[in-house]
Amino acid sequence: MDMPVSFEIRPLSPAGGAEIIGLDLSQTLPQQTIEELRRAWNDHIVLVWRDQEFTEEEQLAFAGRFGKLGQRKVPPEELKERSDGVLQNNPNVMLVTNIMKDGKPAGSFGDGEMWLHIDSGYAEIPYSYTFLYGVKLPSWGGNTRFANTYKAYDALPQEMKDKLAGKKALHIHEYERRARVDISNKDISQSPHWFHPVCITHPESGRKALFVDRLMTRRIEGVPYDESEEILDFLYDHIEQEEFVFEHEWKLGDVVAWDNRCSTHGRTYFPENEERLLRRCTIDGSKLYENA
Ligand code: OGA
Ligand code: MN
Repeated sequence: MDMPVSFEIRPLSPAGGAEIIGLDLSQTLPQQTIEELRRAWNDHIVLVWRDQEFTEEEQLAFAGRFGKLGQRKVPPEELKERSDGVLQNNPNVMLVTNIMKDGKPAGSFGDGEMWLHIDSGYAEIPYSYTFLYGVKLPSWGGNTRFANTYKAYDALPQEMKDKLAGKKALHIHEYERRARVDISNKDISQSPHWFHPVCITHPESGRKALFVDRLMTRRIEGVPYDESEEILDFLYDHIEQEEFVFEHEWKLGDVVAWDNRCSTHGRTYFPENEERLLRRCTIDGSKLYENA
C-alpha cells in the first residue's frame, strides 16, 4: 500500500484541466500520491480521470483523503422540490441528475444548461473541492465548463484590481439555474447567503483569484447599486472569455474534480428527454480571505 505509484499528468488546455493517467481510484493510494494530486490541482484547477469504476463508498473514500467530506446543503423549503431529490439518501452524496422517480426529481439540478457558479459560494465555508463521477450520459451536450479565475484575476486591468481590492460581494442561494433572481426588493434573511472577498487569496497556492459568479453573486458591498451591477456584469463576461475556459466532454466512467476556490463552472444544454446522472461529493474548505 505504501509502494510509490507513478502517474502521468497530461494538460488538457491552456486554461486548465489535466488528465491523470495511471491511477485506479478504487484502490487506496499512498499518501504521497494524494499530496502529488493536491499539488497538481494548484497548477491545473481541474483534474480528470478516465475509465474509473468505483462504488459510492469508494468514491467517498478517495475524496475523503483530501479533507472532511462536505454535507449536501439542504435547500430552503420553497426550493426543495427543485434542488433536492427523492433518491438522495446519503448526506455526503448529491445525485446531479434530471432523472425522475414517481414524478419527482431523483436528484438535483434537473435539465439543461446551467450558468457558471461556485459550489456553495453562499456559505461561510464554501467547499474546497467537488468530485463528479459520470454514471449516465445523454447522447450529446451536458459538457461541464470551467473558468480559471486565477487567470481571470491576473488579466484584469490594474485599475480594476485597485477598485476591487478589499471589497466583498454578496453570494446568495436564490437562482433559477440559468437566470438570476431579482433580490432588490426581497427579504434575503431566509435565503442562505454570505459576503466573501471579491478577490480571494487561495489558502494553498497563495495566488489571487476572482471569487464571483454569474449565477449567485448579486451585489458588491459598499458600492452604489448601479455601479455594482456594472462591475459584476463586466467581471462575469471577463471570467467567461474563451481563453480562460476549459470544457469537459463527458464519457462514462470519468471522474472530474476541481478546486472551487479558483474556478467557476457550469454546463451546456443537453436534451431533456435523455437521462444524465453524475454522482457528486465535496470537501469542506476554510474561510476565505484576501491578503493585502
Ligand atoms: C455540480 C455542477 C455541473 C454539471 O455538480 O456542482 O455544477 O455538469 N454540475 O452537471
Ligand atoms: Mn456546481
